[in-house]
This record gives sequence, structure tokens and C-alpha cells, in this order.
Amino acid sequence: MTPPVGQWWRDAVLYQIYPRSYADANGDGVGDLPGITAHLDHLAWLGVDAIWISPITVSPNADWGYDVADYCDVDPALGTLADVDALIAAADARGIRVVLDLVPNHTSIEHPWFVEARSSRDAPHRDWYVWADPAPDGGPPNNWVSTFTGPAWHLDDATGQYYMRSFLPEQADLNWGNPEVRAEFERILRFWFDRGVAGFRIDVAHMLVKDAQLRDNPPTDDTDFWMDQFRGQRQEYNANRPEVHDVYRRWREIAEEYDPTRLLLGETHVFDVDAIARFYGHDDELGLAFNFFFLYADFDVATLRRVVGEADAAIPSDRGWPVWAGSNHDKTRFPTGWAKGDERLARVALMMLLTLRGTPVLYYGDELGMPDTHVPDDRLLDPVTIAVGRVVDRDAARTPVPWTGDVATGAGFTAPGVEPWLPFGDVAACNVADQREDPGSMLHFTRDLLALRRATVELRRGGYTDVSIRGSEVWSFLRDSTVQVVLNLGDAPDRVPVCLQNARVLLATDRVSEGAPVSGLLEIEGRRGVVIAGDVEVFDQAGD
Ligand code: GLC
Repeated sequence: MTPPVGQWWRDAVLYQIYPRSYADANGDGVGDLPGITAHLDHLAWLGVDAIWISPITVSPNADWGYDVADYCDVDPALGTLADVDALIAAADARGIRVVLDLVPNHTSIEHPWFVEARSSRDAPHRDWYVWADPAPDGGPPNNWVSTFTGPAWHLDDATGQYYMRSFLPEQADLNWGNPEVRAEFERILRFWFDRGVAGFRIDVAHMLVKDAQLRDNPPTDDTDFWMDQFRGQRQEYNANRPEVHDVYRRWREIAEEYDPTRLLLGETHVFDVDAIARFYGHDDELGLAFNFFFLYADFDVATLRRVVGEADAAIPSDRGWPVWAGSNHDKTRFPTGWAKGDERLARVALMMLLTLRGTPVLYYGDELGMPDTHVPDDRLLDPVTIAVGRVVDRDAARTPVPWTGDVATGAGFTAPGVEPWLPFGDVAACNVADQREDPGSMLHFTRDLLALRRATVELRRGGYTDVSIRGSEVWSFLRDSTVQVVLNLGDAPDRVPVCLQNARVLLATDRVSEGAPVSGLLEIEGRRGVVIAGDVEVFDQAGD
């Protein structure tokens, strides 16, 4: 059960921070790095092992940090390189690692490389980007579409060619066929690793390499995942190219030159579980690769069991390690999406995240059961929501942390009287200060779950065996042969066989009957979850 040497992330709980919304130390309404540093004691109290911070590098903010204009400096709104060093040192003193966000697929069009590249067809950096002549009718060179609507191409009038833009026109795709681009990013990785950064989350990790012949993508059919169907084409040539694996094998070599090994956590937005697994290589590419089937899954037992079971089979421990998240900065928070505002279900979801076989990634606010915040039209800042409407509502999941319940004093996020960059939600109903005072709160429940996970090697490293009864709304699984997790996602009570002898309840979402013995059939209320442990193995199918 011991993870491969140096792969600390297999034992860890990660916590994603959206830096503009975590804590504002200088009172300008925007969260910053000193704000994060000031709250590390809270994160240590909570018990997270590593924080992943969404981009902090210089950005004109067309896409809020995901359009980078300098990969080796900090955006002035968020702080300085000295602030990063201070954050890493302070986090290290508390046993917390710092993972940053790398955006290698594209740069801002304000990046000096692109400014120079678009100046002429002969510019030295021209070939650092993906350029193509117009089609014979003057239109885009092929049928590739942008993730953010419209063609994936933007006509540059001055030089008469299109540049590729998989996202906004302000985000120009780099040419990963060019060895100079590869060398530059190896330098960037080392720049941050040398400063003590514990790893990177890699933005759209599946997209970097494009088909050199720019062939058209084939159309989808009704066997494709709904998100691909929505796009109308399979991302066969503009993404998911086999050559991208060379990049990650090389990066993994670099990550392993460091002690401890640096984490490569991919945003692998692909809808094929074998393709997700391939990003681990033979444990020689990405350390973790996100599973978006899970993030987009409905909160129903059949779907979740299928998604988790398939990933568990596709990612054995000698190949890699699954990773699970229920919220992030691009989608509805799970207390709103999965739990529909019901705290009992939010607790069940949290128990699921923290007991599955794999590394959990919490998004800031998950620990509070923080819901999405309605952002009025005149306060919307996300270019995608503004362009396509509320079908995508990313700002709702990006609002400031309610450290206290008092808006008049800045809710502990910013200075009194300062309007935060995105509005607060209902801070009286959900805030850190009140929940820290209340041992029955979601925050304490999260902390206790984290402590249980840390203390229970089976939860961190054990194998997963699904022992649910088909058709039931109760998900029941074993972690190794001595811990059983029972999650009732339905409304009605149900009865579930206890697979362990001499078993007792370790933790319950409603905090009732913890420590009590259980045997035979466990009666489980609707919207309730329990973790139980037995000290005698009677079930021996699991294990890795
Ligand atoms: C990723 C990020 C998202 C961003 C996009 C373009 O999907 O998570 O926030 O808009 O990449 O960089």
C-alpha cells in the first residue's frame, strides 16, 4: 500500500484557491498572495496538505489570469515574486505545499512573444504560434471551433493570416511543434520549481499539440459525450494528439530531478476514460489527471458508481492514481449543483470526495458548503458568461470567501467599505467565523473528515471495492477490507449489509451514533453517509 517513493500527492488532500477571491490584504477589493499567506494557519487547522492557486502570473485578465503575458513574474494585482517566496516559506513551515497553475496552450495576445510574432510573417517568434492562410473563400483554415464559441481562428489583418485561438481571440495558441517553445517551457518549469513550487496544475493539458496538417475534425454522433456533441465535432485533430505525451514524459523527468518530486496535475478535459489513463503513461507522465466525467456527473448513484468504477479499473496503482473534485472555478459549486442547496447532501458529497480511492481536490468554500453566488448582470466579469449567457455561470463560483458574516466590515475578505471585485453571497448564512465556533458545522465536519483520512491508511491508500446493491440509491464501498463507506444519496431510508465484523461507526454526516457498533444490516437514513471500520477482515476482494 505504500505509494511509489516521492509521490506525496497520492497521500494528499489538495485545496484549490482562486487568488482574487481568497483574501485581500491591501484593501483594494481583490484577493492577493499576502492574503493567502495570512490565512495559512486556517488551512493548517483545516488539515489540507497542498494548495493549488489558479494563475498568479502577469495577465491583462481577458480570461482572469488564463491569458498570460509573462510566465515568470507575478501579476501586480496579486503581489510580487517576493510574496510568492514568503508564501512558500510560510506554507512550508506549516507542512503545506504550494502548487501553481501553468497555462502552456496559449498566451495573451499582449505577451511580448505574440506582439512580436504578429508584427510580420518573418518575425523571430512567428512560428511560436499556430498561423495558417485563409481558406480559398477567405474564411478560417479549417473547421476547428473554439471552446468559447465561434471558429478557433482569428484573422490578423496586418499579416493576412489567421492565428489559432482555442479560447478567446485574446488567447493565441502556442505552436508545440516548435522545439523552441518546448525548451522555453522547460525553463519556466525549472524557474518555479527552483523557487520551491511543489508542482503545477496544467491548463487544458490535452490540447497543446495540434495536427501539423490542420485536418478537419470529424463530426460527433449520438455516441459521443454530451459536451462533445454540443461542440458538434470530435476533438481529434485540434487536441488529444499522441505527440503531447512526449511533452509530459519530458516534464516528468524534470519533475523527478527535484526532491520531493514535483506534481504535474493535468486539466485533461477528455471524455474517454482510456484517454484519461493514457495521460499517466506508465507512471512516467502526469502524476494526476482530472476526470471530467466525475465533475460533470449527475449526483446519482448509478452514474457515480460507473464513473468511479471505470476510472478505478483504468488507473491501477502501478500506473497512476485517480483524482476527484466536485467544484472548480469553471463550474457550479457542488453544494449548489450536486446537493441543490441541501446541506445533508453536501455532506454526503464531501464524504464521498474524501473517501474514494484517489486524491481529493477541494475548491475553496467546499469546506463551508458555500453555494454559488448570483452575480447580477451589471457585475458579471467572466467573458464567457457575458458572451454566451448563464448556461455557463463561472462568476457564480468565483466570489470572495466570507471570512465573517459582516459585510459592512468587508466580511473579513477586504477592508471596511470596500466593494470586492465580485459581490459577496449571503455571508450571514455561510461564513468561516460562525462555522469555526460551531462544532456541528460543515467546516468542522470537513476538518474531522480530513483528520480521519489522515489517520486511516485504508482511506488514503486502500483499494476500492464497490459492494452496492444494484438499483439501490445507496452507494456502499470498501477501502481495503477493513473500512466501509455507505452513502445514501436518496431521500428514503434503506438497509445495507455491513461487510465487516466488530464494526463501528467512525464518522457520520449527521454526527449521530459515531463510535456505535454496527453489524448485520445497517439502517441508513436518506441523505446520510457513514464511514465504518471493523477490526476483523471478513471480506477479502480488495487491495492493491
Ligand atoms: C481552462 C481553465 C479556464 C480557462 C480556459 C482557458 O479550462 O480552467 O478557466 O478559461 O482553460 O485558459
